[in-house]
Amino acid sequence: MNNYPSGADCPAWKQLAGAAPAARTRTTRELFAADDERFAHCSVEAAGLLFDYSRQRVSAELLPVFAQLADQLQLRERIAAMFRGDTVNTTEVRAVLHTALRRGGAPAPLLVAGQDIDALVRAERERMLAFAEGVRSGAVYSSSDQPFSLVINIGIGGSDLGPAMAVEALRQYTAGGPRVACVSNVDGCQLADLLALADPARTLFIICSKTFTTLETRTNALAARAWLRARLGAAAVPAHFAAVSVNARAMDEFGVHPEYRFAMWDWVGGRYSIWSSIGVSLAIAIGRAHFEAFLHGAAAMDRHFQEAPWLQNLPVLAAMLGIWNINFLDLPTLAILPYDQRLARFSAYLQQLEMESNGKSVRLDGSPAPVPTCPVIWGEPGNNAQHSFFQLLHQGSPRAALDFLLPVISSCDSQPAQDLAIANCLAQAEAFAFGQGAAAVAADLHRQGMAPERVAELLPHKVHAGNRPSTLLMFPRVDPPTLGKLIALYEHKVLVQSVVWGINAFDQWGVELGKRLCDTIVPLVKQPRLARELSSSLRGALKFVERERR
Ligand code: F6P
Repeated sequence: MNNYPSGADCPAWKQLAGAAPAARTRTTRELFAADDERFAHCSVEAAGLLFDYSRQRVSAELLPVFAQLADQLQLRERIAAMFRGDTVNTTEVRAVLHTALRRGGAPAPLLVAGQDIDALVRAERERMLAFAEGVRSGAVYSSSDQPFSLVINIGIGGSDLGPAMAVEALRQYTAGGPRVACVSNVDGCQLADLLALADPARTLFIICSKTFTTLETRTNALAARAWLRARLGAAAVPAHFAAVSVNARAMDEFGVHPEYRFAMWDWVGGRYSIWSSIGVSLAIAIGRAHFEAFLHGAAAMDRHFQEAPWLQNLPVLAAMLGIWNINFLDLPTLAILPYDQRLARFSAYLQQLEMESNGKSVRLDGSPAPVPTCPVIWGEPGNNAQHSFFQLLHQGSPRAALDFLLPVISSCDSQPAQDLAIANCLAQAEAFAFGQGAAAVAADLHRQGMAPERVAELLPHKVHAGNRPSTLLMFPRVDPPTLGKLIALYEHKVLVQSVVWGINAFDQWGVELGKRLCDTIVPLVKQPRLARELSSSLRGALKFVERERR
């Protein structure tokens, strides 16, 4: 693994670097003027998605260079290595096999170290789906023989963001199931808000934690158990708690009923775990058939990623355009802008997926990465963003690359309203690309009858420079298979970018230090006087806590 080159060492990289200065000065208008068929040349329809990158600031002649870069990086082999279960997560010495969780009907079994991974996955998925269906139908019931009306997923990071995002995205498909809510934050407020209105006799908690040691999740799980015990008695607890983890002993200690616990494996990274039993709350919300359709959607994207030629390959294109924007056009952030309220948590989901994966600056061989890596991911549903931060994106000095996500069909049976969302999204994509130059602004103002001196005064304030690059990702609707495809697309984009930067996308050492320090600070928050050896800043903060808590 460590013998592979990284992008900056490849001849294609030098070609891209050579082309970048001219690209930085070339406007989007010029790119369109040079090619009447730019949309046809710079869009791909695959796996039911339309990926339109015609508004990116890349000329069509550069595209083959991206393909050369992929070849020079031996990308085909790197993709195959992940899918077949090689130890590609070298720092944690693990395979990376979230794709095995959605391999439906693959011709040959997946054997890793002699173990039939498909059989393992299938058996656990069946248990999980049977449980989920049982909760939906009432066959799995509470300590007082009642069906559950509220399911609370307790987790954080990948054990929260996946279920939270997907349950919201697929709300249209949740009929017939109990309400599903998610709790992650350690401060207890989310849990308190939910419990204030919950009926303990009809509430099921699902503790999702790969490790079962995560402070936030343990704190919320213990609080939930105490709440339930206080209301229904200790004997009721086993009927109201399910759990997903690799840590069987910790589930024993917590008292999780053997039939209500689901395994996962160390080769499923937290941010890639929605496909595993971590998705049980989603399965409860949408039911077996929709959950399977969600997996099938991801599997279709997996096949596309493994088979499509580089320039027809959506994850590869998304990755290479990202590399171009970050490393050659100096655009270090990527705004995710879904035009569908149901995708409100999608950018939060991608924040973990991309930034926990590629937020690294050391290469696989331990050397410093010579170029900037992961983009800062951020975003909001597009229409809301238009009325908050789009001003900066249109006319501010910081620049960002943009991903517009646009379903055609309404996610809530309000097609006239979705048609307005479509119009808004397309208008913004055009405005960001082409802007409005001084001549057009002046003509507009003159047409309105404005005095020439006033026109001159206002002109610089009203010019939109344009040239803000964006990708428009369109799809028929946010349904289970499409959501599966979208997530898998971004997952594979992350893999490709990690290959280009030469980094390990699958570890997350950067979150450990804070966790360790927190362990040492927890007792000091209770007794600030013990904090003698610490920095003056920390002592100052603890003193403030002590004073205000009195
Ligand atoms: O933030 C670090 C992390 O390990 C994530 O990778 C993971 O998704 C999250 O914590 C939760 O971990 P666990 O599922 O083990 O509770």
